[in-house]
Amino acid sequence: MNSEIIEKLKWRYATKKFDASKKLSEEKLNILKEAFNLTATSYGLQPLKMLVISDPETKEQLMPFSMDQPQVRDASHVLVLCIEDKITPEYITQHFDRVEASRKTSRNILEPFEDFLVTSFSEKLPEEISLWMINQAYLAMGNLLTVCALVDIDACPMEGFDPEKYDELLQLRKIGLRSVLVLPVGYRAHDDEFSEMKKVRRGVEEVVIEID
Ligand SMILES: Cc1cc2nc3c(=O)[nH]c(=O)nc-3n(C[C@H](O)[C@H](O)[C@H](O)COP(=O)(O)O)c2cc1C
Repeated sequence: MNSEIIEKLKWRYATKKFDASKKLSEEKLNILKEAFNLTATSYGLQPLKMLVISDPETKEQLMPFSMDQPQVRDASHVLVLCIEDKITPEYITQHFDRVEASRKTSRNILEPFEDFLVTSFSEKLPEEISLWMINQAYLAMGNLLTVCALVDIDACPMEGFDPEKYDELLQLRKIGLRSVLVLPVGYRAHDDEFSEMKKVRRGVEEVVIEID
């Protein structure tokens, strides 16, 4: 086990109080953007987008729609993980256009899988597709949390917000998106008492089952 990684994961915590005067550098932000884009997704379809909000007024306006949690106001940036409104056959085709262009794979080879996905998505209920997309957003959040820890960025994963109000304020429906998760990122305030608290976990022995 690489103990350095474990130390980093112990260092991270759901930050309750950010130092509003400390801002993430472009370099750090770029790491988060790349990490988001590199997240593994089911079929590689990436049915996600991420908003990166630094505008102080917008962050302030989000606070009442976030159960008054001050993290969205005080964090350097607020990342909002969004899912697509719907997955159309064109959306799937665009993915295969990218595969063809990136890997120079002939379309004949890709077509059976492309057709399978177009058919399979056309047979799913909209709610099933939404749930599938939401699962991908959680995966991206997990990836971002780990990357944040590795590069010394503080973060607070948040489900405690009103997605409909966010969508309205940020005009997400106009661009075919729906908010799913919020991740304020930045630097912890020196007096955030939560940073000193011991981790509460069930214990490796309890959560891991080995079948030898
Ligand atoms: C999906 C998800 C949603 C969460 N929502 C909130 C939230 O709205 N506000 C908050 O302060 N913490 C939130 N948390 C933080 C958890 O309470 C926290 O991660 C958990 O208690 C473990 O503590 P640690 O992350 O500090 O180790 C959320 C965590 C996850 C993974």
